[in-house]
Amino acid sequence: MDPEVFRRRIAPFRNRVVIDIGTGDGLFVYRSALRETDRFFIGVEPDVRSLEKTSVKTYRDTKESANALFVRATVDDLPQEFTAIASEARIHFPWGRLLKAVGSGEAGVLNGLRRVCEPEAKLLAVLSVDPERDYAELKRLSMPPMTAAHFDELKELYRAAGFEMRWETKPASSIPSTIETSWAGRLKHSKSRRLILLSAVAI
Ligand SMILES: C[S@@+](CC[C@H](N)C(=O)[O-])C[C@H]1O[C@@H](n2cnc3c(N)ncnc32)[C@H](O)[C@@H]1O
Repeated sequence: MDPEVFRRRIAPFRNRVVIDIGTGDGLFVYRSALRETDRFFIGVEPDVRSLEKTSVKTYRDTKESANALFVRATVDDLPQEFTAIASEARIHFPWGRLLKAVGSGEAGVLNGLRRVCEPEAKLLAVLSVDPERDYAELKRLSMPPMTAAHFDELKELYRAAGFEMRWETKPASSIPSTIETSWAGRLKHSKSRRLILLSAVAI
């Protein structure tokens, strides 16, 4: 999208822009945009095939509010037009590269996330880990052990990037109702899976 057109589209939603990174099939953006017409929702996803159905529905059903958009990008190369526009950034159930970056606190990615946030913006990353089932994938990603000590250390890396972060863990069955995504629906029935919620504020 032309940067000027993009700026004009989001201008009426100043301080009310939510960016969902790794949006998958875009269900969170679709449902949120329909419910909260005074906020603008952007779904970021590298694999746009998964977005086909929801993006068509979103453009059709939000025509009047014009408050949703999907963008093909990765967390490593968030568009320059996104600089300081987000009042909220969300990452729900990351996997692969996205999990590695936010779960191990990669400076380049955290700085990129901070760049798209306005001061005092909220960042929420919801990780889901099943130590047995995910063992091979976590090993492949060279992830550090998902322990309390690790997440405590992660706070320092988030702070260095300009986020005050706290974390908590919960069973997957208690996924908050505000996280309406396709993967939330799939994972909430798991008995062995735990959620790790990283909640941060841009400082
Ligand atoms: C388990 S799915 C979760 C999808 C959605 N957030 C949900 O909750 O239904 C993980 C998503 O992360 C995306 N992803 C993986 N690596 C990424 C990256 N480097 N940047 C952005 N998204 C990425 C994948 O394409 C996939 O859609």
